[in-house]
Amino acid sequence: MQDVVVVSNRGPVSFREGDDGEPVPTGSGGGLAATLHPLFRGTGATWVAAAMSDADRRAAALGLMRDEGIRIVTVEPDVATYDMAYNVVSNATLWYCHHHLWDLPRRPRLDRRWEEAWAAYRDVNRAFADTVAEHAPEAARVLVQDYHLSLVGGMLASLRPDLSTTHFSHTPFADPGILRVLPSAAAGELLAGMAGSGACGFHTARWEASFLGAFADPARRADAGVEGVPRTYATPLGPNPPALEAEAASDAVTGARELLDELTGGRRLVVRVDRVELSKNILRGLWAFDELLDTRPRWRGRVTMLALAYPSREALADYLAYRAEVEHTVDRLNERWGTPGWVPIVLDVGDDRARSMAALSAYDVLLVNPVRDGMNLVAKEGPVVNRAHGVLVLSREAGAWEELHPAAVGVNPFDVSETAAALDAALSMDETERAARAGALRKLVLGQTAADWLDQQLEVAAGLRAG
Ligand code: G6P
Repeated sequence: MQDVVVVSNRGPVSFREGDDGEPVPTGSGGGLAATLHPLFRGTGATWVAAAMSDADRRAAALGLMRDEGIRIVTVEPDVATYDMAYNVVSNATLWYCHHHLWDLPRRPRLDRRWEEAWAAYRDVNRAFADTVAEHAPEAARVLVQDYHLSLVGGMLASLRPDLSTTHFSHTPFADPGILRVLPSAAAGELLAGMAGSGACGFHTARWEASFLGAFADPARRADAGVEGVPRTYATPLGPNPPALEAEAASDAVTGARELLDELTGGRRLVVRVDRVELSKNILRGLWAFDELLDTRPRWRGRVTMLALAYPSREALADYLAYRAEVEHTVDRLNERWGTPGWVPIVLDVGDDRARSMAALSAYDVLLVNPVRDGMNLVAKEGPVVNRAHGVLVLSREAGAWEELHPAAVGVNPFDVSETAAALDAALSMDETERAARAGALRKLVLGQTAADWLDQQLEVAAGLRAG
């Protein structure tokens, strides 16, 4: 894979500032970099990623941005420029757009400050494209990842026509009606940038169709200056079963599992594992648990909900407010239902991978109810490590639904009552059905792993080279 260049905003290794001010390596709360990382270790591939924080920049200066068998190249845009591109455009505009998160009477506010941020986004994309152009071997296959880097494909096409570039979206793609909220020029630039790579990949046919839907509108095509329809493909990402199983067998996870058993005291266990993220729909999950206890009193005192959450994107006020609302709701529901021996909902906000793996190995029910999600790897990781014939309650709006629906219990994530009923059905299921569903889920997940996904990307890119 020495002719392969993977390009993503968040890289395979990141750092935080230690107590002595020196950079300390940290885990990655985001699924994408953590999932791709083991696939590239030892391959000699190049990975181009941003230095996202002061600790990352300092680590890069000290030569710590390295990993066995991966050539890591960091892009270090000016701090203020990067901040506007990442927070204002990538996270507060494009993420909201693709996940349909806008509260349209108020947001987005596309004013002069936003225009400046869009220019910063273009600059950061340019810095990535320049770095790839400088470091990519002759005729390399370049795999650009995600919405932070929508413009890189188009830029590389002119900088290095010898490269075969694909762009893969790990998010959904906005429906055409929502895309119309963006200023026409920016939407045109976005579509042209993506279409400028040899092919655009998505996790599901649904997101691929949304992207192509934008090109069905002649005015949009004119904004983008694109003739015809870009080449697209759909290849779902899966987890890394060998890495997950090794992790699940580690001492750290065994220790976390013991703590967990103490906490639940033999009660049934509903688990969720997410970033503290608006699209994950944590609040409606809590309301559904409330409704379950309210309308099915037999579960009172007999079930614990364990909500594990990684802090995320805390530079955005919406995310801080969301976290506060989640914490407040948990307190209120625990006051309402808790008894001296029973805490109904345990919320743990922190960056603790062993704790998450222990919870995934032990759940009776895994609740994955995003309002909209490109894939959702938790829905796929759970069935690989779970040892309790756990049932998956899964949103029909998650990309993972396309593959896992035969063995999951589906929910409309907006429908709290339906979610409560699904939790009840999952908790009440008899052992034969639980085992059958868990086996079927595992089989579905093992049929399309991260390694398969990577092979498919490399094949698409090789096809571009040939064609
Ligand atoms: C999603 C995105 C990734 C991103 C991750 C974590 O999975 O598709 O590109 O890395 O969230 O978000 P963060 O902003 O912390 O990198």
